[in-house]
Amino acid sequence: MSRRTFVTATLAAAALLALPSVVAAAPEAVPASLATANDTAAMLPIELNINGHRHHLQLDPRTALLDALRENLHLTGTKKGCDHGQCGACTVHLDGQSALACLTLAVMAQGKAITTIEGLAKGDVLHPMQAAFIKHDAFQCGYCTPGQIMAAAALLQDKHARHGSAVEIREAMSGNLCRCAAYPNIIAAIQEAQRA
Ligand code: FES
Ligand code: FES
Repeated sequence: MSRRTFVTATLAAAALLALPSVVAAAPEAVPASLATANDTAAMLPIELNINGHRHHLQLDPRTALLDALRENLHLTGTKKGCDHGQCGACTVHLDGQSALACLTLAVMAQGKAITTIEGLAKGDVLHPMQAAFIKHDAFQCGYCTPGQIMAAAALLQDKHARHGSAVEIREAMSGNLCRCAAYPNIIAAIQEAQRA
């Protein structure tokens, strides 16, 4: 191939690739299996009992409870941190037990009493754990605080953990991370609430 022939062929190929029809025909980087799953996902009627109120929603069955709370019901007190079950920011109560809302499908929370940080106080009366967190200044930025309080409040209902030592409290709360490192104040607040 002569140099003239090579240059002509290269320019022709480049011009062809620049045509809209050729560009449009490029394959999309979406796996066919994923596209099919998205297209066929059906919405389900779901009833959730949250803070004593019943809510009726139409949700994709894959919706996490955390997203249903925040995106569908605008209960944004429950925080999204890692979204992978590693930080505890999304802690809520299911039938009085601590649960991670990011790892719980909304559909699986049906029939359970769901309590979020918005439902912990009784009217204007704070839950003892909320009052203790304020008294001991157990937060800085506050992002982890709803999850910390919900996990700590669940401890009060656990007769084994109710009177735990500081070491046992740390162990029980180890799933709730605080990037501001307010841990000493959080432990002090929990101990105060335990004594109340
Ligand atoms: S957002 Fe659920 S554990 Fe981090
Ligand atoms: S108070 Fe900021 S992350 Fe805990």
